[in-house]
Formats: sequence, C-alpha cells, structure tokens
Amino acid sequence: MNKKIDNKEAKTYFIRTYGCQANEHDSEKISWILENIGYVSTDNMEESDLIIYNTCLVRENAELKVYGQLGALKNLKRRKPDIMIAICGCMMEREEAREVILSKYDHVDIIFGTKNIHKLPQLINRYYQTGKTVIDIVEDDREIIEDIGANRKYSFKAYVDIMYGCNNFCTYCIVPYTRGREKSREPENIIDEVKDLASKGYKEITLLGQNVNSYGNTLDYNYTFAKLLREINKIDGIERIRFMTSHPKDLSDELITAMAELDKVCEHFHLPVQSGSNRILKAMNRKYTREDYINLVDKLKKAVPDIAITTDIIVGFPGETEEDFKETLDLVERVRYDSAFTFLYSIREGTYAANMKNQIPDDVKHERFQRLLDTLYPIFYENNIPYKDKVVDVLVEEVSKNDENVLSGRTRTGKLVHFQGSKDLIGKIVDVKIDEIKSFTLEGYKI
Ligand code: 5AD
Ligand code: SF4
Repeated sequence: MNKKIDNKEAKTYFIRTYGCQANEHDSEKISWILENIGYVSTDNMEESDLIIYNTCLVRENAELKVYGQLGALKNLKRRKPDIMIAICGCMMEREEAREVILSKYDHVDIIFGTKNIHKLPQLINRYYQTGKTVIDIVEDDREIIEDIGANRKYSFKAYVDIMYGCNNFCTYCIVPYTRGREKSREPENIIDEVKDLASKGYKEITLLGQNVNSYGNTLDYNYTFAKLLREINKIDGIERIRFMTSHPKDLSDELITAMAELDKVCEHFHLPVQSGSNRILKAMNRKYTREDYINLVDKLKKAVPDIAITTDIIVGFPGETEEDFKETLDLVERVRYDSAFTFLYSIREGTYAANMKNQIPDDVKHERFQRLLDTLYPIFYENNIPYKDKVVDVLVEEVSKNDENVLSGRTRTGKLVHFQGSKDLIGKIVDVKIDEIKSFTLEGYKI
C-alpha cells in the first residue's frame, strides 16, 4: 500500500459517490488509499488521471444514473485514452451489472466490489501492467481489514463503521446481496478509532451500520450496541454521538435507557418503519408490527424528552392496497415524524419482492407518494413550532450554498439551522436563537 506510483508529477484522482453513508465513507477510505500511493484529489474530472465511480444499487434510479454518466465518459476516454476509469460499490457486486459494463461500457478499466477496496493499489498496478480490464470481486466471509484510514470530508464530524453487511433480507432490499453477511468490528478497534478522531479535534461521530441495533451479535463474546455507546460516551473531546441505521425489531430497552442516560448521544432516532400496514410489514419480512413500532416510539419519547424521530417509508410495495396505504398515513399521523425519507418501491432483480405478482402501477405509486408528502410536511412544520424563540446549540457545518454570509449547521436533534456568521465558526458549537421556522429548516441568529 505504500508503494509510490513511479511518476514525477503526482497523479490526480476524481471520485463520484452515489448512495448512502456507507458509500460516502467507503469513498473517504478510497481517497485515503489513493493518497497513500501518491495520488492527489481533484474536482476536475476531465483533467484527472483516475476516475472512480462508487455506485449504488438500492433503487433503479441510482443505477440508471450511473449508466448515464458512464455513457458520457466514453467520449472522454476516446479523447484521452490514458485516463483510467474504475467502478466500484454495490452495483459491481452484481454479476448482471458487471456483464452490462463489460459488454456495453468497455472503456471501464477496473471493476471492484465493496469488500476489497484495500486492494485498489494492486488493481491499478495490474491494469498498468496488462492494459486489460481488471475485475476483482471477493466472495463473502472476508476478514475485516482494520488498517485502512479515511480522508474525511469534514475535520469536525466523522463517520465510523461499527459493522458491515446485513442479515435481515427485507424482501425489497438488495443490500444483503451487495454488502454480504453482517459482521461487527471489535469494540477496541472502534473505540481506538474514535479516540484518535477526538485527539484530532473531531467533535461529532456517526456510528454506521445497516442495523446498528444488532451490533455485537457476530462477536465471540457478549457485547451490545448500548455498551458500545457507553464506552464511546466516555471519550474526552467527543461532544455528540449519532448512529444509523436502526432496525425496530432489534431496538432494546437497554439501548433506550442508554440513550436517556448518556449526555453525548444526540436526541435523535432514525427508525425506518417502511410501512404502517401489518400485512405489508409481514410481506416485507420486517418482523415487527405497527403496534410494536408505535410502542417503541412511545418508549423513546418518554425516555428522551424532545427526541426527534425520523424514518424511511416505501410507497407501492407489491400488493399494497388503498387500505394498507391508509394505515401508513395513519401511522405517520400517530408518530408525528420530524423528517422522513420517502421512496417509491423499486423492483430490484434478485430480491424476493421482485418476483411478487401484484406489482403496483406507477400512477398509483405516484399518487400515494404525493398524499404521503402532503401528510408529512405539515407535521414536520408543527414539530418545529416549539423551536421558535428557543436557543439551540448548533454544530456549524458549512457556508450556505446560496449566501456566503449564511452558515448552516445542525441541532442535536438533527434540525438544519441557517444563521448569519463568518466562516471561522465552521466546526464550532454555537448558541443560536431561532426566530423563524419552516418545514425543513430553522432560521435564527447567533447569541
Ligand atoms: N425500493 C424502494 N426503496 C427501497 N429502500 C431499500 N430498498 C428499496 C427498494 N427496492 C429504502 C428503504 C431503506 C432505504 C435505505 O432505502 O426505505 O430503509
Ligand atoms: Fe436492507 Fe432491511 Fe438490511 Fe436495511 S435491514 S439493509 S432495509 S435488508
């Protein structure tokens, strides 16, 4: 990994990332690996020596976007044959997608998967030596590779993987097929990584896993996510702890108690519900009922006052009737979410639901989707009303894209806040008094 590319001028790389936080963090690792072998990052794709697309497969849109962009790269490669093009990420874990790349996008030079990013330097060398397309995908049951760092996007907040893969096989979801079986990192390794981040000035960490609530299940000894939170809460310098994603079926009382007790764990819980209908939840293989879910939310709200609850919802899962959909609307009204990611069900070949006969027509999906948003948005707004005239602590993240005098940051509850200020506040936690509220943002001034 420490072999320098034999070249006088540093080579440049450009990464485009599609999809979720796991992919974003993988790209931070890829960037670290490349910089270790002498590459430097560039925003100018056309002038770079190496282009990497880190792909997503979770919905069809994500996949189509990648094919569209790859098509556009064909001309670039024709003009500049020395540019190396690599594709990795979830899409490349599917043989079908690899075949499409090999047959229709022969300007791609390197194909690798989600479990072997540490091999990238070798793959680059192999391509240099042979000039032939290099494909490297590893089968499951791999060891966790611990000696990869990450070039993190921010210097004050960081993602930390605590586990990889997923064992849940929700019937709509491709992730268990692309990221393999669940495997937890050893707690010492996670704690060491967070201590190292704290020593470098990081204030906020987000613990990542497809289902953090089952953290520890694959370790040889008894260890739980709640216990991990307790250990991380002790680390000096870290001020905020976040985590995602949680599966309701594994949300324990032990975790709720830990959340209530630990001062650094933020008052925000992202708890994907997917549907409010018991029939659909069963067909999705989610292993909880709407009653179980509502009960968990009630417990969380009781244990952690002012907690923000957010979720993921899929509309138009095969067989979803108007009645089922109304159950989702009803649940949304009952839980009163602070925010939600909403998705149209997307057929993913290879999953159980893809073969279900009763797929929902697109127009019905879209109509329900709109009704869901019409129900959610006023609730988001109402949940923000109590913030008016309150002082909140905001971790300042960046300058607003629209106005260079405006900063944006987040409350502990995950609310996006805009306020006037200079950019030297980025990375600091400041007090902001809220004077205007909207459905998706809060506005205020620094006090
Ligand atoms: N169609 C639509 N949404 C999906 N998700 C996962 N698979 C699909 C699919 N096939 C959504 C789920 C999950 C989020 C990350 O993506 O809501 O929680
Ligand atoms: Fe997909 Fe379900 Fe695993 Fe989440 S828990 S990654 S939705 S299979």
